Amino acid sequence: MKTILVPGGAGFIGSHTVAALHRHGYKSIILDNFSNGHKESVLHGEIIDGDIRDTALLDTIFNTYEIDAVIHFAAFIEAGESVVNPLPFYDNNTAGALNLLQAMQRHKVERIVFSSTAAVYGQPENDNALVETLPKLPINPYGQTKWAVECMLRDIAASSNFKSIALRYFNAAGCDPESRIGELHEPETHLIPLVLQAASGKRKNIKMFGTDYPTPDGTCIRDYIHVSDLANAHVKALSYLFDNVEEKNGFYDAFNLGTGQGFSVREVIETARCVTGVNFDAIEEERRPGDPAFLVANADKANKILKWQPEYPELEEMIQHAWAFLKNR
Ligand SMILES: NC(=O)c1ccc[n+]([C@@H]2O[C@H](COP(=O)([O-])OP(=O)(O)OC[C@H]3O[C@@H](n4cnc5c(N)ncnc54)[C@H](O)[C@@H]3O)[C@@H](O)[C@H]2O)c1
Repeated sequence: MKTILVPGGAGFIGSHTVAALHRHGYKSIILDNFSNGHKESVLHGEIIDGDIRDTALLDTIFNTYEIDAVIHFAAFIEAGESVVNPLPFYDNNTAGALNLLQAMQRHKVERIVFSSTAAVYGQPENDNALVETLPKLPINPYGQTKWAVECMLRDIAASSNFKSIALRYFNAAGCDPESRIGELHEPETHLIPLVLQAASGKRKNIKMFGTDYPTPDGTCIRDYIHVSDLANAHVKALSYLFDNVEEKNGFYDAFNLGTGQGFSVREVIETARCVTGVNFDAIEEERRPGDPAFLVANADKANKILKWQPEYPELEEMIQHAWAFLKNR
């Protein structure tokens, strides 16, 4: 049985990936500082309460366990907050990843799957679905911290036999179809959980930031990807690194993960009203700076090379799963 170190494995996407790793016969060692994670979200594996920036702890972990590979989720994730206070993002996301990569090199662990983001592309020039080869021009420090890590992965692959895959997620949504785990960000800034908070009465209404974008209904369009599909993509990426990349070779590649379908903010709200049966209020607000009108993935490369296909591509199903989880709690 292969053992995978999962920094950030108690968070939203990490915890779903730990569940998928278990289903596929891997053992997980979860390293999380619980700045935003939840012990009850970890359904399998061993939990270590600690920080990726703690060099001594990383050495102890790599000395104690026979780690075969790493799937790295641990990061600060709020793009808006990164504009206001960028240095903690560089510290945690970039310097933290550097510390982890250096520990991996010291202990000869040579495979990593890295959580990257659509934010590396910045403001797209047109409404075409984004392909991986587009220029990487992040418009906020969060995207920049993630792109910096991808650059490190690219450079060490060119100079050694270090093997990595960066997965560029679009908007993670939904939750475990069995409602055991779900999205518990604090503070919550993602549209679907916020909309469901409006439906459940936890918040008074939902705000639509910008209703004059050049889209059919004036609101921003995004590509929502079910978190269980993201989780499965990590397992595919991991097996690709084990099975398809020769031991002696360095390797780095990046893959978009999305469904290729775009939904506007108004469409998300309408779908949530149908799923929940609650006609909650939606308020029109001014645009927020730095929100692109249209962000949709071209995920052909992941489909073709990783043989990955989303199992839950329907927005309605993502919202149903997230709603079931919320009601369960
Ligand atoms: N949620 C999305 O839509 C989305 C989209 C694109 C990329 N991503 C990336 O995916 C990853 C996971 O996102 P998420 O939504 O699950 O976020 P999350 O906040 O739920 O998970 C991150 C986890 O990392 C832990 N963590 C943070 N800093 C740490 C540190 N220094 N040491 C140890 N643990 C630490 C947190 O406690 C948390 O459990 C992040 O890297 C994020 O940038 C997320």
